[in-house]
Amino acid sequence: MVIPEKLRRCWHPVAYGHDVTGAPHATRLLDEALVLWRSSDGRAHAMRDLCIHRGTALSLGWVADDCIVCPYHAWRYDATGACVRIPQSTHTTIPVKARTPVYRCQERYGLIWVCLAEADPAYAVPEVPELESETWKVVKTGPFAWATDASRQVENFTDFGHFPWVHPGLLGDPERPVVPDHHVETRGHVLHYQVVRPEAANSDDFPVFANDQTERPVRRSRYELHLPYTIALRLGWGGDKGMVYFFASQPVDEDHCAGYVTIARNYDREQPASVLQDFEDTIFNQDRVVVEASEHFFKEPKGQELISGRPIKIPGGAGGPQSPDRPMLELPPGKYQYSVRLAGRNARNDTVEVTAGDAWGLMSAPSGEVLALQIY
Ligand code: FES
Ligand SMILES: [Fe+2]
Repeated sequence: MVIPEKLRRCWHPVAYGHDVTGAPHATRLLDEALVLWRSSDGRAHAMRDLCIHRGTALSLGWVADDCIVCPYHAWRYDATGACVRIPQSTHTTIPVKARTPVYRCQERYGLIWVCLAEADPAYAVPEVPELESETWKVVKTGPFAWATDASRQVENFTDFGHFPWVHPGLLGDPERPVVPDHHVETRGHVLHYQVVRPEAANSDDFPVFANDQTERPVRRSRYELHLPYTIALRLGWGGDKGMVYFFASQPVDEDHCAGYVTIARNYDREQPASVLQDFEDTIFNQDRVVVEASEHFFKEPKGQELISGRPIKIPGGAGGPQSPDRPMLELPPGKYQYSVRLAGRNARNDTVEVTAGDAWGLMSAPSGEVLALQIY
């Protein structure tokens, strides 16, 4: 997967805070394995899920004395990522390079957010005062794990046209399918738009909206789409009652995401949280089926996953001998994007123009180590 560097410079949700308690919690962000854990002051920490001793996942370990402990030989790492104890060693000094990377981590709106880059985050986590107000009741739903890129989950969330067909009787009315005119305004990294649209009457199973009408209700939906994958959607029905959907999608990797939907309402405060949670389970499952089924439509022809050492022409790359036991990769002339992966991490992203009659070489790193290569 080629991950745009800017995505690494963004805050992304990686877990609900209530799911990160006493034990380490494993997750993935932008194809990077993470472990989340809490110190005794309640603070959440995010680290690469890797013990640098023998590579074991720290998430299989445990938390003790404000450190995370590796399950294999019990090396301990503190919240800065430094190894502070090697039980097998009688030496009191520990090499400074014995550490695992830690990432920026903050908790807001009941979510744990992580930014992978060392550079300052490109944008702040959006301000949504209703989620922190005493007068609004907040319910957390999901997370909704889909086998698709996070951008497609966001796109689906903002797609008005599917409501009558994918969610008839719940979010839309098939008798009134027309999408009203709306205008999108861009302010900084936030898209603003609103639409007054036909809505389904509240269903008996899921009475979650504030429309009192039973016939031909409408609702005003004000969207803020914050780059890259967060939406604050405010619903109103012309009175004081309001509902806020705060949706943020975790880009797990190129083919997976997890959507966190936090809902605030200033009405129906006594309604059990399970009503909204069951409603969103139903809605997101209806969406998941159609979105996952169309994945192939949005992918470049997948190309070929290459294993280390397959001959491939790389512009300006180190050429090497071709050998008969390494079949040449046949690519039709054209322009290709590729990424070179070294030890599971992106080492180089570029494009290559292949013309008829090009010579093929063997890609290798300056060290002589052959790299894995993926063309797509
Ligand atoms: S692999 Fe972690 S302590 Fe040995
Ligand atoms: Fe939907």
